Amino acid sequence: MARKVAVIGMGHVGSTVAHYIVANGFADDLVLIDTNEAKAKADALDFKDAMANLLFHTNITVNDYGALADTDVIVSAVGNIKLQDNPNADRFAELPFTRKAVADVAAKIKESGFNGKIVVITNPVDVITSLYQEITGLPKEHVIGTGTLLDSARMKRAVADRLHVDPRSVAGYNLGEHGNSQFTAWSTVKVLDQPITKLAKERGLDLDELDKEAKMGGWTVFQGKKYTSYGVATAAVRLVNVILSNALTELPVSNYRDEYGVYLSYPAVVGRDGIVAQSHLDLTDEELAKLQTSANFIKEKYAESLD
Ligand code: LAC
Repeated sequence: MARKVAVIGMGHVGSTVAHYIVANGFADDLVLIDTNEAKAKADALDFKDAMANLLFHTNITVNDYGALADTDVIVSAVGNIKLQDNPNADRFAELPFTRKAVADVAAKIKESGFNGKIVVITNPVDVITSLYQEITGLPKEHVIGTGTLLDSARMKRAVADRLHVDPRSVAGYNLGEHGNSQFTAWSTVKVLDQPITKLAKERGLDLDELDKEAKMGGWTVFQGKKYTSYGVATAAVRLVNVILSNALTELPVSNYRDEYGVYLSYPAVVGRDGIVAQSHLDLTDEELAKLQTSANFIKEKYAESLD
């Protein structure tokens, strides 16, 4: 069966997602959508120019919402380029723009008869994931935010750099908001199967400093290039592949948790049917309190976004 993916929003992030998909043959059909049609068409042509030198073929369609009807996975990379100079390191600065843009896009997705999964990158991601779910009316399990899959990768990078290991040898999660109220749940982190709390004592690691490095990682990149792209695009494509191949992988992504009443990042098992199971971590009391604080913050911001 053909694998059909759509990318909505062809800025730095969306075009990186699309390139990763085309270059690796992750989809048979790719739909590119952007309000700037000239840009989307130019990207499509550029990808076609790459095709003769690639191993894989991808059929590309531009700006056709009707093509979403039988799409398996939509990636929302809608963003606002004018907010690149966000001085407060706060993803909520994007909300006034993105909530309007997403209301429009989500209504069109619904109108197309789309019945697949949505992977949301658009910030503030936890709130925007809720908005997509509400407006499209899709099951909550079918609308997923990249969330702290990215921040967990940043945490793994920070820990791996310090301990001189491959980041894939670091396991564990950043939880909560993909934003300033997130935190690394150190009780979940292991390096080469050793608890990081034990290693930290042995090696004199400052976990608060590493937590900050992970949390602020996006802003460190942002300061240098005025946007971030590769980290989050890779997280999104991983999620797309896990869905398309029904991999049933446990990932810290933004999913709706009944006990918190919001979308927030907490590990869940992802497959063709979206979120197929939710994990239960043995968090410390301190971590549980931080998660509750993060959930309250997202809830508050979500209510504000509806005003
Ligand atoms: C980042 C953006 C995607 O953290 O929020 O890179």
